[in-house]
Amino acid sequence: MPNIAYVNGKFMPLSSASVSVEDRGFQFGDGVYELIRTYNGTVFHVQEHIRRLYESLKQIEISIKETPTQLERIVQSGVKRCGYVETKIYIQVTRGAAPRNHPFPKEARPTLVMTFRELDLLPPIIFKKGVSIISVEDIRWGWCNVKSLNLLPNLLAREHAVRAGASEAIFVRDKFVWEGAGSNLFAVFGKKVVTPPIGPYLLSGITREVVLALGKKMGLKMIEQKVTLPALYKADEIFLTGTTVEVLPVIHLNKKTIGTGRPGTITSLLHKAFQNEVSPRLPLMIRK
Ligand code: PDD
Repeated sequence: MPNIAYVNGKFMPLSSASVSVEDRGFQFGDGVYELIRTYNGTVFHVQEHIRRLYESLKQIEISIKETPTQLERIVQSGVKRCGYVETKIYIQVTRGAAPRNHPFPKEARPTLVMTFRELDLLPPIIFKKGVSIISVEDIRWGWCNVKSLNLLPNLLAREHAVRAGASEAIFVRDKFVWEGAGSNLFAVFGKKVVTPPIGPYLLSGITREVVLALGKKMGLKMIEQKVTLPALYKADEIFLTGTTVEVLPVIHLNKKTIGTGRPGTITSLLHKAFQNEVSPRLPLMIRK
């Protein structure tokens, strides 16, 4: 089967999957999601992603009948069914379908959707060259730790980045930089590797956690601390982390050159460490 979907208990080709127009995800963006990927067919940190999904669900007061173990089984089953070597998995949960009305509907059952597509890998050259980013004002709500389906500010930010010839936009709120539209932010100052602290203004990225742990293991000074935009311009290195970008060097911020204008040494070390972390898994023969 090629791209597939799981909708409320059933697998089907993605092309024939649908939800109601009355679904509150469509009407209000009333739901949350996760993006997970595989490495050599193994789902990367699936339990951490599912744990974060439940945390998001709890924050917005949706409870689903499936247990974390059941969700993981569905994820694993979808990966096997689609048979790709590398799969990109979205899990989306909404409050369900009900006539449009703001208060939570009493009768609606949450909608659970997963999609399984072949993952497009970023071209390796991008990691060698680094990318440009811009900063934008953070107009998001105050619960950025919830992976909400409401992504309008993120979409606008990314669109403005693309129009400016950049790959990502980072959010600035109260003079501090927090994270990217779809990634977390790190900066290197001398021997210190700094990333903004978890809290309401950023998503606690799974990749961020992995990179923090790897850096500590390597003996680097990994510090969770707020950084202002003017301070960020003076960083020796900047990089982004995320499921899709892994450890991605940044060489320009708002058209200003960062460090030497090339991916920095510490970024490259962490990028290598991350690749080692994800690559030793033996290729799994998951094709049907
Ligand atoms: N987003 N911050 C934001 C706002 C994000 O949307 C993401 C990931 C991250 C990084 O989290 P993680 O390392 O767990 O992927 C940080 C994914 C790529 C998405 O929305 O598609």
